[in-house]
Amino acid sequence: MSIDLDGPSLQHAFGAVCTAPILLEVRDLNCPAPELSTAEESQHAGMSSEKRRSEYLIGRAALKAVLAALGRSEDTAGVVWPSTFCSLSHSHGHAVAVALADGHGIGIDLQLQRTPPFMMAERILADETLEWWRALPEVEQASALQRFWTVNEAVYKACPAPQPAYFRHYRMADPTRFDSALSIDGTDYRFEVHTLALANGFISLALRA
Ligand SMILES: CC(C)(COP(=O)(O)OP(=O)(O)OC[C@H]1O[C@@H](n2cnc3c(N)ncnc32)[C@H](O)[C@@H]1OP(=O)(O)O)[C@@H](O)C(=O)NCCC(=O)NCCS
Repeated sequence: MSIDLDGPSLQHAFGAVCTAPILLEVRDLNCPAPELSTAEESQHAGMSSEKRRSEYLIGRAALKAVLAALGRSEDTAGVVWPSTFCSLSHSHGHAVAVALADGHGIGIDLQLQRTPPFMMAERILADETLEWWRALPEVEQASALQRFWTVNEAVYKACPAPQPAYFRHYRMADPTRFDSALSIDGTDYRFEVHTLALANGFISLALRA
């Protein structure tokens, strides 16, 4: 069963499984553009395409809302990535921002419609996950690969710099489950990861343990 891509639905679904209380906001292209700071205006003006500019605006609107709820400055130009307390993802005209009042690593990744090519599986899946994925019926492989992609990107965003970018080292304790622990080989980083199935994609949230 898929979850609706709106703030209350995602907040409720993640809230039911996360061990820490998270703040979450969703914006789409129908939402009013936010008021930008001078630094944000300059970032916006420097973007190369109209698509990127509109994506930036919905992302900033979502991010400003979670920062305000945390009582932090809403000037998103001051956020340094990776951030320990907030994360942002956009896909196909939607943006989702998440934040933690008290945390040391949070990541969100939304993927709608786009599925990684199968040839990517060997590059982005740890051995046990790859073995499980290969044994799936072919019709389920595309969607599972898209799910794992969002897991990896969410975990990457929740890592402190320098972020370990080799996804083969991202090891899910149980790849069959949408809620799992995950560790990264060669580091002491541990995460809880939660994924929700949407109508045409997935959204994953990673919290550093
Ligand atoms: C930077 C990266 C995480 C962006 O992810 P994406 O799926 O392309 O795009 P999303 O919309 O989900 O996320 C973009 C947002 O992430 C945030 N972000 C950017 N760099 C970040 C970083 N290093 N860490 C955490 N968050 C970051 C920003 O808010 C950005 O939005 P903005 O540009 O409007 O400010 C991604 O391009 C990346 O580098 N991934 C990891 C490396 C990789 O691909 N490894 C594969 C090895 S096999």
